[in-house]
Amino acid sequence: MFSKETYPFRLPELPYAYHALEPFIDQRTMYFHHDKHLKTYIDNLNKALEAYPEYQTWTLEELLTRLPELPEELRTPVRNNGGGVYNHEMYFHLMAPAGQPFSTEVAEAFGGEDNWNRQMKAAALGQFGSGFAWLVLDTTGALKIIALPNQDNPLTIGLQPILPLDVWEHAYYLKHQNLRSDYIDDWFHVINWNAVEQRLNDTL
Ligand SMILES: [Fe+2]
Repeated sequence: MFSKETYPFRLPELPYAYHALEPFIDQRTMYFHHDKHLKTYIDNLNKALEAYPEYQTWTLEELLTRLPELPEELRTPVRNNGGGVYNHEMYFHLMAPAGQPFSTEVAEAFGGEDNWNRQMKAAALGQFGSGFAWLVLDTTGALKIIALPNQDNPLTIGLQPILPLDVWEHAYYLKHQNLRSDYIDDWFHVINWNAVEQRLNDTL
């Protein structure tokens, strides 16, 4: 599991073919997003940790959960690039070729698929500029939807990340141009609900 990995971090294989999410998310976007954008976050995270052997044994999850404990000069690069690695590995892992049935647990928590879609979309559209919408578990074990800017991660504010939706323009601009709303509608088709349920069961 990527969250348990430690320095030096490596680019994982995409768990499906670059074209596997067509026609909803196109092959070119997937290639640049995974092989270029994620790779840059990985390289920059490794660079940031190079001079700090005492933090090279911390897992990615620990680095983000215990962010305030890091020295100030390391905190921002880990927040941005460690978040970039975690958020993207999770985002790619939790997509799959279209056709998986909606999660019964999420349906129960939000009053059905339409309501969940509506709330997730509102959070994703409401995120001004770059960031992610997140399905998270709060400290009471309840499912919630939030949005966070840039590469900020729910772990840093005491929440368990369950499912991220990347709304940086690099996630959709090549196919959807500026139409974030259309990209979100397409993303709903390619959620890996089996893996989301697995994650929920492992976390609860
Ligand atoms: Fe991204």
